[in-house]
Amino acid sequence: MQLRNTRSGYGLVAILFHWMMALLIIGLFLFGKYMTGLDPMAPDTFALYQLHKSLGFVVLALVLARLAWRLANPSPALPETMPGIERLAAHLGHAGLYALMLAIPLSGWLMVSASPWGIPTVVFDILPVPHLPVPDALGSKAEAERTLKGLHELLANGLLLLVVLHVAAALKHHFLNRDDVLRRMVRTGSETHPR
Ligand code: HEM
Ligand code: HEM
Repeated sequence: MQLRNTRSGYGLVAILFHWMMALLIIGLFLFGKYMTGLDPMAPDTFALYQLHKSLGFVVLALVLARLAWRLANPSPALPETMPGIERLAAHLGHAGLYALMLAIPLSGWLMVSASPWGIPTVVFDILPVPHLPVPDALGSKAEAERTLKGLHELLANGLLLLVVLHVAAALKHHFLNRDDVLRRMVRTGSETHPR
């Protein structure tokens, strides 16, 4: 079983990171949209918000571990036949996905730190997380919370858009270009060559 990446394919660790995080993030997106539509005073709403925060911290921890793993591993080369502009789009797209995987939980953390309610964050009721210092430039606590809510929503919607493009690109590789780009994110040890 190949754990590490090679220049031609992803290892098991990168593949598990990718699919675990894809599921978790898409789930958290839907969860966020669902919970913000609930009656804030309903008995279960508070617990759902706390669960959203806890799972968001799991994403933050996983993306830091994933970036460390990425730095310690070779990145599989893109197919040689890919035009320069598509290579650039792939690199920018992946960088954007990593940036959003970091920025969305951080904006959520900053948002709950700004809340005038001062609700503590205890990940899965076990691990207390301190509030972040909120920049004065964001105004009063209530103003800062409103701005950061808007930012969290905007970044999450931006991620959705980028993921749609990312999936479309993966499907184009598989069905139109007929290369190994999608298959090498599903199983280890595949080579980059036309089918
Ligand atoms: C990758 C991780 C995350 C994703 C994809 C995500 C996604 C979302 C989405 C889509 C919403 C609904 C926004 C709207 O349409 O109004 C939302 C709301 C919210 N998120 Fe997250 N979130 C993540 C992480 C976090 C974290 C780490 C925290 C806090 C520590 C957090 C706190 C909140 C709160 C408090 C709301 C409700 C905001 C409101 O009342 O309008 N989220 N999130
Ligand atoms: C929230 C959802 C997702 C996120 C955040 C995400 C993020 C990423 C990132 C950051 C990479 C670059 C990995 C690296 O080289 O370090 C990547 C690669 C990849 N993703 Fe996703 N992804 C998501 C969903 C999906 C889905 C649903 C598909 C399939 C249809 C997919 C297919 C791929 C493929 C094929 C690659 C490999 C590209 C290559 O070999 O260069 N991803 N993804």
